[in-house]
Amino acid sequence: MEFLAKNTNQNKKIAKSIVDIVINENINIILLKGTLGAGKTTITREIGKLLGVKTNISSPTFVIEKIYIPKKYFSTIHHIDLYRLHSKKEIEEMEILEEVKDKENLYIVEWPDLLLKKIEQNYLLVDIKKGKGNGRTFKIRKKRRWEQDVRRLIQLNIIFISSIISSKFTL
Ligand SMILES: Nc1ncnc2c1ncn2[C@@H]1O[C@H](COP(=O)(O)OP(=O)(O)O)[C@@H](O)[C@H]1O
Ligand SMILES: [Mg+2]
Repeated sequence: MEFLAKNTNQNKKIAKSIVDIVINENINIILLKGTLGAGKTTITREIGKLLGVKTNISSPTFVIEKIYIPKKYFSTIHHIDLYRLHSKKEIEEMEILEEVKDKENLYIVEWPDLLLKKIEQNYLLVDIKKGKGNGRTFKIRKKRRWEQDVRRLIQLNIIFISSIISSKFTL
């Protein structure tokens, strides 16, 4: 999906679409791509408002992670900025890949490149591009992790086959 915001006011409708997808698809990870000043923190602020965050969401660049308590849908919102991290080791030390498995919390990550390939859960990828003046395009894609589905399929098959074997033996 692609959306155009001609100014910051129009980000509200885009944030609404993002929140709708996240809730309907049971997704708890939003990865935000885009250059400096593209609008990653600005859209996070709108998403926070829709989920009932009362405090003002500000850039987490210097502290790497800020946590907010929303009124709706999630227990906490973790707003993370990986701009200042440069190695996979640093990401591992943050234990973020483990943390995101907790579906009670929403994770919104700016500069997610080091994380992208390692995520095992389904996530929403939002790519923001600067246009003329205050114009921004938002490309929104749902990413399914086939590993997650395959693992589930293998599990089900093992259960199925072992139930057939055991029923044969009891006959
Ligand atoms: N349509 C728009 N959407 C988002 N930000 C916009 C838009 N038009 C202008 N801006 C401005 O661009 C800047 C985006 O900053 P920010 O959200 O901090 O970027 P990032 O987090 O991607 O580095 C803000 O100053 C914001 O007011
Ligand atoms: Mg930012």
